[in-house]
Amino acid sequence: MASEIIAPGYVSFDRVANLYEATRMVPADTLDNVAQIIREDARLNSSDPFLDAGVGTGRFSRHLYRNGVGVIGTDISRAMLEQARSIQEGFPLIQANLYRLPFASRTFRGVLIVHILHLLEEWRTALDEAIRVLQDDAPLYLGYETGRRNPVQDIYFELATQRGIRHRHIGADSKEEVFDYLRSLDGSVTRIDGGAFQWDIDIKTHRLLSLLDRNPFSQCWNASEPDHAELMKELKKRMEERGLATPVQKIRGDFSLWKVSFHRAAKSGAK
Ligand SMILES: C[S@@+](CC[C@H](N)C(=O)[O-])C[C@H]1O[C@@H](n2cnc3c(N)ncnc32)[C@H](O)[C@@H]1O
Repeated sequence: MASEIIAPGYVSFDRVANLYEATRMVPADTLDNVAQIIREDARLNSSDPFLDAGVGTGRFSRHLYRNGVGVIGTDISRAMLEQARSIQEGFPLIQANLYRLPFASRTFRGVLIVHILHLLEEWRTALDEAIRVLQDDAPLYLGYETGRRNPVQDIYFELATQRGIRHRHIGADSKEEVFDYLRSLDGSVTRIDGGAFQWDIDIKTHRLLSLLDRNPFSQCWNASEPDHAELMKELKKRMEERGLATPVQKIRGDFSLWKVSFHRAAKSGAK
Protein backbone atom coordinates (compact mmCIF):
# COMPACT_ATOMS: atom_id res chain seq x y z
CA MET A 1 0.00 0.00 0.00
CA ALA A 2 1.17 3.51 -0.79
CA SER A 3 1.23 4.62 2.85
CA GLU A 4 3.76 1.89 3.66
CA ILE A 5 6.05 2.89 0.84
CA ILE A 6 5.80 6.65 0.80
CA ALA A 7 6.39 7.81 4.36
CA PRO A 8 5.47 11.41 5.21
CA GLY A 9 7.92 13.79 3.64
CA TYR A 10 10.21 11.31 1.93
CA VAL A 11 10.31 8.26 -0.28
CA SER A 12 11.94 5.08 1.05
CA PHE A 13 14.31 3.35 -1.35
CA ASP A 14 14.63 0.14 0.71
CA ARG A 15 12.61 -1.79 -1.83
CA VAL A 16 14.95 -1.03 -4.75
CA ALA A 17 18.32 -1.07 -2.98
CA ASN A 18 19.53 -4.16 -4.81
CA LEU A 19 18.52 -2.95 -8.27
CA TYR A 20 19.15 0.77 -7.92
CA GLU A 21 22.60 0.70 -9.54
CA ALA A 22 21.24 -1.20 -12.55
CA THR A 23 18.60 1.47 -13.17
CA ARG A 24 20.97 4.42 -12.91
CA MET A 25 23.17 3.99 -15.91
CA VAL A 26 25.91 6.58 -15.47
CA PRO A 27 29.21 5.22 -16.83
CA ALA A 28 31.96 4.68 -14.24
CA ASP A 29 34.37 7.05 -16.03
CA THR A 30 31.77 9.84 -15.83
CA LEU A 31 31.30 9.22 -12.10
CA ASP A 32 35.07 9.30 -11.72
CA ASN A 33 35.39 12.55 -13.70
CA VAL A 34 32.68 14.15 -11.55
CA ALA A 35 34.62 13.14 -8.42
CA GLN A 36 37.82 14.64 -9.83
CA ILE A 37 36.11 17.92 -10.76
CA ILE A 38 34.73 18.24 -7.23
CA ARG A 39 38.06 17.33 -5.60
CA GLU A 40 39.93 19.89 -7.67
CA ASP A 41 37.28 22.60 -7.47
CA ALA A 42 37.03 22.43 -3.67
CA ARG A 43 40.76 21.64 -3.31
CA LEU A 44 39.95 18.64 -1.14
CA ASN A 45 42.30 16.13 0.38
CA SER A 46 41.60 13.08 2.50
CA SER A 47 41.56 15.06 5.76
CA ASP A 48 38.90 17.51 4.52
CA PRO A 49 35.44 16.28 5.53
CA PHE A 50 33.07 16.14 2.57
CA LEU A 51 29.42 15.07 2.78
CA ASP A 52 27.46 13.09 0.18
CA ALA A 53 23.96 13.90 1.46
CA GLY A 54 21.57 11.13 0.38
CA VAL A 55 24.44 8.89 -0.70
CA GLY A 56 22.22 6.02 -1.83
CA THR A 57 24.35 3.11 -2.99
CA GLY A 58 27.42 5.34 -3.09
CA ARG A 59 27.57 5.93 -6.85
CA PHE A 60 29.42 9.22 -6.39
CA SER A 61 30.96 8.63 -2.96
CA ARG A 62 32.95 5.59 -3.94
CA HIS A 63 34.63 7.59 -6.71
CA LEU A 64 35.27 10.51 -4.35
CA TYR A 65 36.81 8.05 -1.90
CA ARG A 66 38.93 6.41 -4.61
CA ASN A 67 40.12 9.89 -5.61
CA GLY A 68 41.35 10.59 -2.09
CA VAL A 69 38.46 12.69 -0.79
CA GLY A 70 37.50 12.32 2.91
CA VAL A 71 33.90 11.58 2.02
CA ILE A 72 31.13 10.68 4.49
CA GLY A 73 27.82 9.39 3.15
CA THR A 74 24.41 9.72 4.80
CA ASP A 75 21.11 8.22 3.78
CA ILE A 76 17.84 7.40 5.47
CA SER A 77 17.66 3.93 3.93
CA ARG A 78 19.64 1.25 5.72
CA ALA A 79 19.26 -1.08 2.72
CA MET A 80 20.79 1.53 0.38
CA LEU A 81 23.68 2.05 2.83
CA GLU A 82 24.26 -1.71 3.06
CA GLN A 83 24.39 -1.85 -0.71
CA ALA A 84 26.89 1.04 -0.76
CA ARG A 85 29.03 -0.77 1.80
CA SER A 86 28.96 -4.01 -0.18
CA ILE A 87 30.31 -2.18 -3.25
CA GLN A 88 33.01 -0.08 -1.54
CA GLU A 89 34.39 -0.25 1.97
CA GLY A 90 36.63 2.32 3.59
CA PHE A 91 34.58 5.50 4.11
CA PRO A 92 31.94 6.29 6.76
CA LEU A 93 28.27 5.73 6.01
CA ILE A 94 25.76 7.09 8.50
CA GLN A 95 22.02 6.55 8.56
CA ALA A 96 20.45 10.00 8.88
CA ASN A 97 17.55 12.12 7.74
CA LEU A 98 18.50 15.05 5.50
CA TYR A 99 15.98 17.15 7.42
CA ARG A 100 18.08 16.87 10.58
CA LEU A 101 21.70 16.07 9.87
CA PRO A 102 23.62 14.73 12.89
CA PHE A 103 26.58 17.08 12.35
CA ALA A 104 27.67 20.33 13.95
CA SER A 105 27.25 23.52 11.94
CA ARG A 106 30.20 24.39 9.65
CA THR A 107 31.64 20.86 9.61
CA PHE A 108 32.16 20.18 5.92
CA ARG A 109 34.47 21.51 3.20
CA GLY A 110 31.76 20.65 0.70
CA VAL A 111 28.41 18.90 0.34
CA LEU A 112 27.09 16.97 -2.68
CA ILE A 113 23.39 16.35 -3.37
CA VAL A 114 22.35 14.28 -6.40
CA HIS A 115 18.94 13.15 -7.49
CA ILE A 116 17.08 13.63 -4.21
CA LEU A 117 15.39 17.01 -3.94
CA HIS A 118 12.51 15.92 -6.20
CA LEU A 119 11.77 13.21 -3.60
CA LEU A 120 11.64 15.43 -0.52
CA GLU A 121 8.47 17.29 0.37
CA GLU A 122 10.51 19.62 2.57
CA TRP A 123 13.35 20.03 0.10
CA ARG A 124 14.05 23.57 1.27
CA THR A 125 14.64 22.26 4.80
CA ALA A 126 17.09 19.70 3.41
CA LEU A 127 18.96 22.48 1.58
CA ASP A 128 18.98 24.64 4.71
CA GLU A 129 20.50 21.70 6.59
CA ALA A 130 23.14 21.13 3.92
CA ILE A 131 24.07 24.81 4.07
CA ARG A 132 24.15 24.75 7.87
CA VAL A 133 26.81 22.03 7.90
CA LEU A 134 29.00 23.76 5.28
CA GLN A 135 32.05 25.64 6.48
CA ASP A 136 32.13 29.35 5.57
CA ASP A 137 32.95 29.67 1.86
CA ALA A 138 32.62 25.91 1.29
CA PRO A 139 30.56 25.01 -1.80
CA LEU A 140 27.41 22.98 -2.23
CA TYR A 141 27.44 20.76 -5.33
CA LEU A 142 24.27 19.63 -7.07
CA GLY A 143 24.15 16.94 -9.73
CA TYR A 144 21.33 16.43 -12.23
CA GLU A 145 20.74 13.50 -14.56
CA THR A 146 18.39 14.48 -17.32
CA GLY A 147 18.46 11.88 -20.13
CA ARG A 148 18.36 8.21 -19.22
CA ARG A 149 15.38 7.67 -21.48
CA ASN A 150 14.66 5.52 -24.46
CA PRO A 151 11.48 4.79 -26.43
CA VAL A 152 10.65 1.73 -24.32
CA GLN A 153 10.86 3.66 -21.06
CA ASP A 154 8.89 6.48 -22.64
CA ILE A 155 6.03 4.08 -23.44
CA TYR A 156 6.28 2.64 -19.92
CA PHE A 157 5.80 6.07 -18.35
CA GLU A 158 3.13 7.04 -20.89
CA LEU A 159 1.12 3.91 -19.98
CA ALA A 160 1.64 4.48 -16.27
CA THR A 161 0.30 8.03 -16.64
CA GLN A 162 -2.71 6.91 -18.71
CA ARG A 163 -3.53 4.22 -16.14
CA GLY A 164 -3.26 6.66 -13.22
CA ILE A 165 -0.48 4.72 -11.51
CA ARG A 166 2.22 7.34 -11.96
CA HIS A 167 2.24 10.04 -9.33
CA ARG A 168 4.02 13.37 -9.37
CA HIS A 169 7.15 13.63 -7.31
CA ILE A 170 6.44 15.18 -3.93
CA GLY A 171 9.56 17.35 -3.90
CA ALA A 172 11.14 20.12 -5.97
CA ASP A 173 9.66 20.37 -9.46
CA SER A 174 12.82 21.39 -11.28
CA LYS A 175 16.42 22.41 -10.83
CA GLU A 176 15.39 25.98 -11.66
CA GLU A 177 13.09 25.99 -8.62
CA VAL A 178 15.99 24.76 -6.49
CA PHE A 179 18.38 27.35 -7.95
CA ASP A 180 15.86 30.15 -7.34
CA TYR A 181 15.65 29.13 -3.69
CA LEU A 182 19.44 29.00 -3.36
CA ARG A 183 19.76 32.42 -4.99
CA SER A 184 17.23 33.77 -2.49
CA LEU A 185 19.73 32.65 0.18
CA ASP A 186 22.48 34.63 -1.57
CA GLY A 187 23.97 31.58 -3.23
CA SER A 188 25.54 31.99 -6.64
CA VAL A 189 24.95 29.03 -8.95
CA THR A 190 27.43 28.01 -11.66
CA ARG A 191 27.56 24.99 -13.94
CA ILE A 192 31.02 23.43 -13.66
CA ASP A 193 30.99 20.31 -15.84
CA GLY A 194 31.69 22.12 -19.11
CA GLY A 195 28.83 20.27 -20.82
CA ALA A 196 31.04 17.19 -20.95
CA PHE A 197 28.86 14.41 -19.60
CA GLN A 198 26.74 12.76 -22.26
CA TRP A 199 26.69 9.11 -23.23
CA ASP A 200 24.84 6.35 -25.04
CA ILE A 201 24.48 2.94 -23.49
CA ASP A 202 23.29 -0.27 -25.14
CA ILE A 203 21.14 -2.45 -22.93
CA LYS A 204 19.75 -5.84 -23.89
CA THR A 205 15.97 -5.58 -24.24
CA HIS A 206 15.29 -8.56 -21.99
CA ARG A 207 17.42 -6.92 -19.27
CA LEU A 208 15.60 -3.60 -19.58
CA LEU A 209 12.23 -5.37 -19.43
CA SER A 210 13.24 -7.40 -16.42
CA LEU A 211 14.27 -4.17 -14.64
CA LEU A 212 10.99 -2.47 -15.53
CA ASP A 213 9.14 -5.59 -14.43
CA ARG A 214 10.40 -4.94 -10.92
CA ASN A 215 8.78 -1.49 -10.83
CA PRO A 216 12.04 0.40 -10.17
CA PHE A 217 10.91 4.03 -10.47
CA SER A 218 9.50 5.75 -7.40
CA GLN A 219 6.84 7.57 -9.43
CA CYS A 220 5.04 4.23 -9.93
CA TRP A 221 5.41 2.70 -6.46
CA ASN A 222 1.72 3.34 -5.80
CA ALA A 223 0.81 0.70 -8.39
CA SER A 224 -0.57 -2.62 -7.18
CA GLU A 225 1.23 -5.72 -8.48
CA PRO A 226 -1.64 -6.72 -10.81
CA ASP A 227 -1.88 -3.19 -12.22
CA HIS A 228 1.86 -3.10 -12.83
CA ALA A 229 1.77 -6.56 -14.45
CA GLU A 230 -1.00 -5.34 -16.79
CA LEU A 231 1.08 -2.31 -17.68
CA MET A 232 4.05 -4.56 -18.55
CA LYS A 233 1.82 -6.73 -20.75
CA GLU A 234 0.61 -3.68 -22.63
CA LEU A 235 4.17 -2.34 -22.91
CA LYS A 236 5.33 -5.53 -24.66
CA LYS A 237 2.35 -5.35 -27.01
CA ARG A 238 3.12 -1.72 -27.92
CA MET A 239 6.79 -2.55 -28.45
CA GLU A 240 5.81 -5.19 -31.02
CA GLU A 241 3.42 -2.76 -32.72
CA ARG A 242 6.03 -0.01 -32.93
CA GLY A 243 8.89 -2.23 -34.08
CA LEU A 244 10.78 -1.80 -30.80
CA ALA A 245 11.05 -5.47 -29.91
CA THR A 246 14.67 -5.53 -31.07
CA PRO A 247 17.39 -7.38 -29.07
CA VAL A 248 19.08 -4.17 -27.86
CA GLN A 249 17.87 -0.73 -26.75
CA LYS A 250 19.90 2.49 -26.78
CA ILE A 251 19.72 4.68 -23.74
CA ARG A 252 20.95 8.24 -23.92
CA GLY A 253 22.01 9.91 -20.72
CA ASP A 254 23.53 13.14 -19.50
CA PHE A 255 24.63 14.62 -16.24
CA SER A 256 25.27 18.20 -15.18
CA LEU A 257 27.20 19.38 -12.14
CA TRP A 258 26.48 22.68 -10.43
CA LYS A 259 28.36 24.60 -7.78
CA VAL A 260 26.63 26.88 -5.32
CA SER A 261 28.85 29.35 -3.49
CA PHE A 262 27.68 31.39 -0.55
CA HIS A 263 29.09 34.73 0.41
CA ARG A 264 30.90 34.63 3.70
CA ALA A 265 28.59 37.27 5.23
CA ALA A 266 25.44 35.35 4.27
CA LYS A 267 26.83 32.06 5.55
CA SER A 268 28.03 33.62 8.80
CA GLY A 269 24.48 34.69 9.48
CA ALA A 270 23.23 31.11 9.13
CA LYS A 271 22.15 29.05 12.15
C1 LIG B 1 17.40 8.53 -6.16
S1 LIG B 1 18.40 8.10 -4.79
C2 LIG B 1 19.89 9.05 -5.10
C3 LIG B 1 21.09 8.47 -4.40
C4 LIG B 1 22.43 9.05 -4.79
N1 LIG B 1 22.55 10.45 -4.42
C5 LIG B 1 22.67 8.86 -6.27
O1 LIG B 1 22.64 9.85 -7.02
O2 LIG B 1 22.86 7.73 -6.67
C6 LIG B 1 17.65 9.01 -3.48
C7 LIG B 1 18.20 8.66 -2.14
O3 LIG B 1 17.71 9.60 -1.21
C8 LIG B 1 17.45 8.91 0.00
N2 LIG B 1 16.52 9.71 0.81
C9 LIG B 1 15.23 10.00 0.53
N3 LIG B 1 14.73 10.77 1.50
C10 LIG B 1 15.72 10.98 2.40
C11 LIG B 1 15.80 11.71 3.62
N4 LIG B 1 14.76 12.40 4.12
N5 LIG B 1 16.97 11.70 4.29
C12 LIG B 1 18.04 11.01 3.80
N6 LIG B 1 18.01 10.32 2.65
C13 LIG B 1 16.86 10.31 1.95
C14 LIG B 1 16.88 7.58 -0.46
O4 LIG B 1 16.94 6.60 0.54
C15 LIG B 1 17.77 7.28 -1.66
O5 LIG B 1 18.90 6.54 -1.30
